[in-house]
Amino acid sequence: MKEKKSRGLAKGLTNYGDPAFSLYLRRSFAKSMGFSSEMLERPVVGIADSRSGFNNCHRHFPELVEAVKRGVLAAGGLPLEFPTVSLGEVFLSPTSMMFRNLMSVDVEEMIRAQPMDAVVLVGGCDKTVPAQLMGAVSADLPAVQLLGGPMMPTSFHGERLGACTDCRRFWALHRAGKVDAAGIDEVEGNLATTAGTCAVMGTASTMASIAEALGMALPGSAAIPAVHADRLRAAEASGKRAVELARSPLRPTQIITEKSVENALRVLLAIGGSTNGIVHLTAIAGRAGVEVSLKKLNDLSDSTPVLVDLKPTGQHYMSDLYAAGGIGAVMRELKPLLHLDAMTVTGRTLGELLEAEPGWVDRAVVKSFKDPLSRQGGLVALFGSLAPNGAILKRSAADPRLFEKEGRAVVFSSLDDLAARIDEPGLEVTAEDFLVLRNAGPKSGYAMPEAGYLPIPAKLARAGVKDMVRISDARMSGTAYGTIVLHVSPEAAIGGPLALVRSGDRIRISVKERRIELLVSEDEMRKRKAAWRPPVAPPVRGYAKLYMEHVLQAEQGCDFDFLRKASAYLGGKS
Ligand code: FES
Repeated sequence: MKEKKSRGLAKGLTNYGDPAFSLYLRRSFAKSMGFSSEMLERPVVGIADSRSGFNNCHRHFPELVEAVKRGVLAAGGLPLEFPTVSLGEVFLSPTSMMFRNLMSVDVEEMIRAQPMDAVVLVGGCDKTVPAQLMGAVSADLPAVQLLGGPMMPTSFHGERLGACTDCRRFWALHRAGKVDAAGIDEVEGNLATTAGTCAVMGTASTMASIAEALGMALPGSAAIPAVHADRLRAAEASGKRAVELARSPLRPTQIITEKSVENALRVLLAIGGSTNGIVHLTAIAGRAGVEVSLKKLNDLSDSTPVLVDLKPTGQHYMSDLYAAGGIGAVMRELKPLLHLDAMTVTGRTLGELLEAEPGWVDRAVVKSFKDPLSRQGGLVALFGSLAPNGAILKRSAADPRLFEKEGRAVVFSSLDDLAARIDEPGLEVTAEDFLVLRNAGPKSGYAMPEAGYLPIPAKLARAGVKDMVRISDARMSGTAYGTIVLHVSPEAAIGGPLALVRSGDRIRISVKERRIELLVSEDEMRKRKAAWRPPVAPPVRGYAKLYMEHVLQAEQGCDFDFLRKASAYLGGKS
């Protein structure tokens, strides 16, 4: 049998030393699944399916994947779904962040190793979309990102609740003694009640918005609720588009460029998106060889208004954003700031897409460019002696009264230390102090968990304190809020200045000046550095060893050094 042109099932044959035999064997085994010869001639669309019993956010994926398949079949393709790692945010230990790069490798390698002409990436929960986009960019096969869509909020005792800003709000009330054990039990069953991703502008919603802003997801698809029929129609359309891409390739590296990354940064700022968004976007862009600098973030932040009024910083939920016009409505307002010639997965430029009729826009949810919620973006990077390589503050979720402030450090040396002492009645702390957590960064052994939202010490919470300056090398859930300085780099576990802070030291932050300074003399810092020892022994085997040896700092997206853009996948012949 003559080998077919290298597409569809004839791509990337298993090597038996006889290509014709390989193809014959592959087709024979494919026929065991009941496919006709005619079906096996079609372009193949892989569907990267990240459903899992450990991922509540993806529980509707079987229905979604069926809709993708319907779209692929209708357009003349052969849909073949394949499972990948799934990352259910609250089911992973020490944190899902440790496994984002693992999932990206899985996605990349399965796209490359299996015979497909295009791929639909089906993801939703926080780390799954960045992992899929990172893998797809590295594989550089035509790809469409299909988002799982957000959960619906639930009516409860006369108010709407949605994961997970309200989860945190009720937990804070419980800690402050205002909601009893029975009350918190009842709330627990009413926070996350449908399929889909967290209902607010948390990390999953931020990454969905970024996927659309980058041009990798179909226009209008980011905010469609998981349970809305439009979500299934978006799935069908994604399948159809993937077949078109299989016939006329447009690769992720033609879509994810300096221009589209800058557009995505603008959207991240305008939606008041999650601090995690900057880490993930940096990692995705890095796979395409595009650098994201925190100084650039500050420049963009100064000139990008916040337009979207969603929790955790505002009032509404993602389903409201969909009804209000979605990310398209946001981007139409941002048009003067965007690179309109950026290419999208549709084959049309962003500018062409935004020329379409805007439809009705609910100005309670999506503000106009002229009348924004805030004239400046939601995220800023701070630099200084405590964070020479930068730190992030979500100013739109913080208390402006704490923006220009000097305070006394109250230091916790690890997450275990924090858990053991934060609620001790004897803890020496006032509302004016700065809580500092160290050894919670990428190489800390905890893999940079979302622990930057340090709880207000119980005795202060009971006294009515709602916010304090909190500083760490950890991350923070996109659903959280407060005056919280995150991603301090270099991190404590590799001996950054954060490792050397002691309780009683003075720290000064200035959001206006973008500064964060540890007010300790250079001499004293040198002495402390000389006495410093790494807090954790390196892992000796397995993925943990690979992770620890290769993970980069937050400002480089916490990707692995060997996964950033390289000139070739395989080394040349020696
Ligand atoms: Fe999956 Fe929040 S837990 S998006």
